[in-house]
Amino acid sequence: MCGIIGYIGHRPAVPILLEGLKRLEYRGYDSAGIAYIQQGKLKVIKSEGKISILEEKVFSNDPLHTTIGLGHTRWATHGVPNEKNAHPHMDLSGNICVVHNGIIENYTKIKESLKAKGIDFRSDTDTEVLVHLISEEYSKTQDPLTSIRYCLKQVQGSYAIGVMFSDRPKELWAAKHSSPLIVGIGVGENFIGSDVPAFLPYTKDVIFLEDEEIARLTTEHVDVYSLNTGDKIKKQIKTIPWDISLAQKGGYKHFMLKEIMEQPRVIFDALAGRVNYKTKRILLNELNDLGIPDKIHIVACGTSFHAGFWGKYLFESLAKIPVEVDIASEFRYRDPLIRKDDLVVVISQSGETADTLAGLRMAKEMGSKVVGICNVVGSSVARESDKVLYTQAGPEISVASTKAMCSQMVVILLMALYFAEKKNLMEPDKHNQLIMGLKDLPNILEKELPKTREIAKELSVMYSFARSFFYLGRGLNYPLALEGALKLKEISYIHAEGYAAGEMKHGPIALIDPEFPSFVIATKDHLFDKVVSNIKEIQARKGPIICLTNPDVKVSANHIWQVPDLGGILTSFLILPALQLFAYETAVYLGKDVDQPRNLAKSVTVE
Ligand code: G6P
Repeated sequence: MCGIIGYIGHRPAVPILLEGLKRLEYRGYDSAGIAYIQQGKLKVIKSEGKISILEEKVFSNDPLHTTIGLGHTRWATHGVPNEKNAHPHMDLSGNICVVHNGIIENYTKIKESLKAKGIDFRSDTDTEVLVHLISEEYSKTQDPLTSIRYCLKQVQGSYAIGVMFSDRPKELWAAKHSSPLIVGIGVGENFIGSDVPAFLPYTKDVIFLEDEEIARLTTEHVDVYSLNTGDKIKKQIKTIPWDISLAQKGGYKHFMLKEIMEQPRVIFDALAGRVNYKTKRILLNELNDLGIPDKIHIVACGTSFHAGFWGKYLFESLAKIPVEVDIASEFRYRDPLIRKDDLVVVISQSGETADTLAGLRMAKEMGSKVVGICNVVGSSVARESDKVLYTQAGPEISVASTKAMCSQMVVILLMALYFAEKKNLMEPDKHNQLIMGLKDLPNILEKELPKTREIAKELSVMYSFARSFFYLGRGLNYPLALEGALKLKEISYIHAEGYAAGEMKHGPIALIDPEFPSFVIATKDHLFDKVVSNIKEIQARKGPIICLTNPDVKVSANHIWQVPDLGGILTSFLILPALQLFAYETAVYLGKDVDQPRNLAKSVTVE
């Protein structure tokens, strides 16, 4: 949801800005722009479309000798995506420019009052009010901190901003409220970024800005001030454990494919240090002083919601804890009944999804303990949860989430086993088998993935004719069916719906005909026979079927796709990549932009 990069240092700023924007492009890619100070003047270059278009425009411009600048890649909220609405936005004097991620909710009122003072607006964005407000105060005080505070005290909504003043070429300013912004600390250079990959090639040392904090960056220093009091705040520098190679494609054609194929490593890392294979005990020390909850409420969006929904089955069957799962945008606006001994678990890859964060905050206000399952170290979910379980999947760049879900599922399974152990509910044989199965899982998946990809490729060609798809499953395979459908529609733009297989006869089956295929997940479990009945119902209506199943079962379908049976729960970790790869290969075959599908953004930091 919009990406910001800012640089001040000793190197040429423009290539750093453009590179940073490319690494942030997953956050938005409908328009982009940069600003830099050259010979005491602000230069702004913007374009509609992807960063590559901006890049061409930038390099057909001046020599670009500058060591300070701001860049922005946009995912439109207010105002259509075009050059006029792209950031950075300048004040009328041309002295100040602003980049912004978020939504200024009261911008209409502010805009009216600024217009009444004779200010002409040049864009349709909410952002433009920010630069005019800062300018209004700066023309009187010539003081950046006072001017930024003056502006931000008037606005409601969410923002992460970068600000530059052409008469202050040795300072870069930034501030945040409810949108992510991180300061990167280098040697003789400093950065701001919406996300760590923006500046990861240059530094892993960061300061996480909190809400209502304002940062002033020079080449040598970073000072942080409180928006409310103007006082200086002492901040800690933290080191990010990610390596830049994790944020590159590593020989793969797309980030999505790389991230799917990384899943064996992702499982290994999510398990690391969390299981004692000798004693077969789960080591989630983060949860030790939480107690056993009476009930769990899982709150998440998108793919993370599907991981949570999958988790509901495990918490209930393994740990006998009742679970409610909510889409965060619903949870935050209904009146959930959360009791004192309930636990709220929020799941978010980015840790910045606006609705998920709002759900987290609401749960805390209601007095509940919150566990965050999250990938990005230091993100808002990680900072605001009472306890955080990191998924350790490494940066996920592809907009369509893949490896993050796999890592979330590992953590959720460990959590369910942890509570089951605490409640003495595990049958020793089953428990030990599961633990040892987990240990072997990365190797098994590593071996299976190339075969799975081959089958996905063949089937994707055969089924690329489809305009619609059903994804069906029961039990643990139902949330996976939802995820399979989401992946297909996100990146191939083929309409797809996930359903509980048993629900087909209550309506959806009316759509079945020879042109409407169903992707049915029928693994060797207690629900297998029931799914076979559902397959027969579809076949009776001449619907084509791909059946993702295990060896040694009796089922007939147009295409049978077998993955090994790992005995119940663990089979999910083979089903998930098969679904991901089918969507991936279909999108590639149809020539779609796999890593940056239209209209989507990786991290939805607005409501
Ligand atoms: C966006 C992304 C999805 C992701 C969802 C939740 O919609 O495109 O891939 O699953 O946000 O994101 P989170 O970072 O909270 O897991």
